Amino acid sequence: MMLRKLIDISIKLSSERNLEKLLNLIVETALEFLKVERATIFLYDDEKKELYSMVGTGINKETIRVNINQGIAGYSARTGEILIINDPYNHPLFNKEIDEKTGFKTRDILTIPMKNIEEKLIGVFQVLNKIDGQINDEDVEYAKAFASIAAVAIENAHLIEELKKQYQLLERAYKDLQEAQETIIKQEKFATIGQLASGINHEIKNQLGVVMAVEAMRKMFPDNQKVQLYTQLIIDARNRIVNLLDEIRDFTKTKNYEKIRTDLVNLINRTITLCKFDKELESYKLVFNEEDSKEAYAEINADKIQQVLINLIKNAAHASPPKSSIEIKLLKENGFWLIFVRDYGKGIPDDIKERIWEPFFTTKTSGTGLGLDICKKIIENHNGKIWFESKLNEGTTFFIKLPASE
Ligand SMILES: Nc1ncnc2c1ncn2[C@@H]1O[C@H](COP(=O)(O)OP(=O)(O)O)[C@@H](O)[C@H]1O
Ligand SMILES: [Mg+2]
Repeated sequence: MMLRKLIDISIKLSSERNLEKLLNLIVETALEFLKVERATIFLYDDEKKELYSMVGTGINKETIRVNINQGIAGYSARTGEILIINDPYNHPLFNKEIDEKTGFKTRDILTIPMKNIEEKLIGVFQVLNKIDGQINDEDVEYAKAFASIAAVAIENAHLIEELKKQYQLLERAYKDLQEAQETIIKQEKFATIGQLASGINHEIKNQLGVVMAVEAMRKMFPDNQKVQLYTQLIIDARNRIVNLLDEIRDFTKTKNYEKIRTDLVNLINRTITLCKFDKELESYKLVFNEEDSKEAYAEINADKIQQVLINLIKNAAHASPPKSSIEIKLLKENGFWLIFVRDYGKGIPDDIKERIWEPFFTTKTSGTGLGLDICKKIIENHNGKIWFESKLNEGTTFFIKLPASE
């Protein structure tokens, strides 16, 4: 009969893995099984050499901590002895104050040290006041059996909590490692690109020197409009190649560009003209809607802003079928210029919306993934903002906000 009960208790306690809930369950079960008025589990804190109880019945709702050199529970913990005290008020270790404070009258006390498999102290089990009669030797046997079952359950719960903590630490460490690895990979990419770029930079610039021969042509045909226009385009293209090379070489560094008061209307018109001569863009309809602004001044580095516009226009073209329209709009809003670059292309899927700004993120077979990263850096360097809205299969609009100058 008793054995059956103990087995049931063992099953019940071993199924609770949360330490605090387990301690509550042990106390509840002890009251019923041992027929006592009060039961407490003191856990042993090996570092502080203290006993503490998180739960109890009635009074001990908050944590109680006692030094291992104090009291009856401390004595049991220190000596490993089971104590039965039938006349506590005449016992030298008994602390009457608690009873005085709570109004509880302790009649008898039983304390049993709890040990784990390695015989290390894990706590003390204490019961007070047998409901009918006094605690006797038979009660002690049952209480011992109960305490050892409770000890196993507590030890398991401890181990599980420890395991959980270790697991969390491991998970954290794994995440940190992954992040560190990503950073290293990125930095390596940066360094490799930087090296590559400065290696070819010099060489390409030398070769581009020949383009300056067109300067001579400009001087030879000062009145020929076509020669003047085409040679200017060649020079502009050369400048952009040089800038792009510098950009790739420096793109990990932030630089302060020289900025001057520039008319955005004029800049956008020049950019559109330039795009019309670009093989990739020639089939697209570039529409500039300048609203009511004839002139729109801002403190900018015109080359850099032009680079931003070209990057956005190229992205728009890559996302839309040939002959599509790409619209550019300019309007003023609260001391800022807003530039829209809008396409009616395939849109940006939700799952990559956050990633498109990352350097090297590209969905194109021959993309570098640097375009938007460069745009963002340039716009932020101008104390502006860049963002986008996109709907799948309907199109995308990129917005640039730049502080206006008077
Ligand atoms: N207007 C757009 N429409 C659809 N997708 C776009 C648009 N602009 C940018 N993207 C997406 O963002 C990615 C990153 O763009 P970007 O940084 O310019 O690099 P790249 O053009 O070399 O791929 C593109 O590969 C594309 O998937
Ligand atoms: Mg791009």
